Amino acid sequence: GKGGYPHYMLKEIHEQPDVIARTAFDRIDLGAGDVRFEGGGFDDAFCRSVERIQILGCGTALHAGQIAKYLIEGLAHIPVDVDFASEFRYRDPRIVPGTLALAITQSGETADTLAATRLARELGARVASICNVAGSSQVRESDATILTYAGPEIGVASTKAFTAQVAAATLLAIRLARGRGVMHEHKARQLLEEFRMIRPKIESLLTDEAIARTREIARKHAGARGFLFLGRGVNYPVALEGALKLKEIAYVHAEGYAAGEMKHGPIALIDPGMTILAINSVGHVAEKTRANIEQVKARGGVTVSVGSDDLSHSIADSAVPVPATDEWLSPILNSIPLQLIAYHIAEIHGCDIDKPRNLAKSVTVE
Ligand code: F6R
Repeated sequence: GKGGYPHYMLKEIHEQPDVIARTAFDRIDLGAGDVRFEGGGFDDAFCRSVERIQILGCGTALHAGQIAKYLIEGLAHIPVDVDFASEFRYRDPRIVPGTLALAITQSGETADTLAATRLARELGARVASICNVAGSSQVRESDATILTYAGPEIGVASTKAFTAQVAAATLLAIRLARGRGVMHEHKARQLLEEFRMIRPKIESLLTDEAIARTREIARKHAGARGFLFLGRGVNYPVALEGALKLKEIAYVHAEGYAAGEMKHGPIALIDPGMTILAINSVGHVAEKTRANIEQVKARGGVTVSVGSDDLSHSIADSAVPVPATDEWLSPILNSIPLQLIAYHIAEIHGCDIDKPRNLAKSVTVE
């Protein structure tokens, strides 16, 4: 059942401290400053043999894949392409020798993702998956799998499965980096220690007080004509995911955008009827995103800052502070208030939160 929550979505949002711990912590070897997957998967020889990674998925899972690209390129120094499975399978994609196709899928049964990975294999790629269902078609068709331990996800809007995918991708990036010898043991240990400390930080985003804060933001902005979610770097896909959640459960138009692309078009949309959510955590691009918040404000946009960058909070009209962590881990934390904001706006609009119109949990046909 819903465990006392009004919706599965809210229950599943609250499961995230456990889900992240289950998916990540037993795989972290702090002594070695490394990640160990069950059955010794992704060993050093395998990691060294990967020349290129092609990530494939749909929807929310693809957003996790976009975060994975930043992580794998940044930490493991492997070039990564990411594509919608539905685009990859119908163009004439090029796969170079040494390519690993990495499918990301909660259900393991998404038709486009299965077809795209089959095509990648035909073209010579090996296939790995990040998947939440152990016996699924996707897992059966993969050479290596990293299971997420999110448990069954009933709400159509993916929440805990997404953060679990991001956690798994973070582990994979660190293992690839260590296996290839491009990350020092002490640097990996630092990042993994930070990862081990994430649980109380996730919990702090789910207290009654934290929930009330997101409900307040939702109440204030539910009447906006549209929403623009902005982010940079590893938090750019978090912006895409925040916008998708709002679209799918609250039926409100929302767009995710790379903050640096604002001035190349979308800034023309800004007026007092638009709410701009900027996802900004302390890190190497924080100052840049902060400048974008200022530009939006100067044009009359209503701004909400989400993340650990306090200076952003002091500029924006409202703020959702998120605990500080390593920049690489910030997507897991920043996603949670965005899930809650979408949830509360959907609630205000009286939407059927667990079963949004026109959507199916698993898209097993095209
Ligand atoms: C959004 C959502 C969908 C799925 C997509 C892929 O909340 O749930 O966008 O992420 O249909 O599904 P899986 O991960 O099962 O391949």
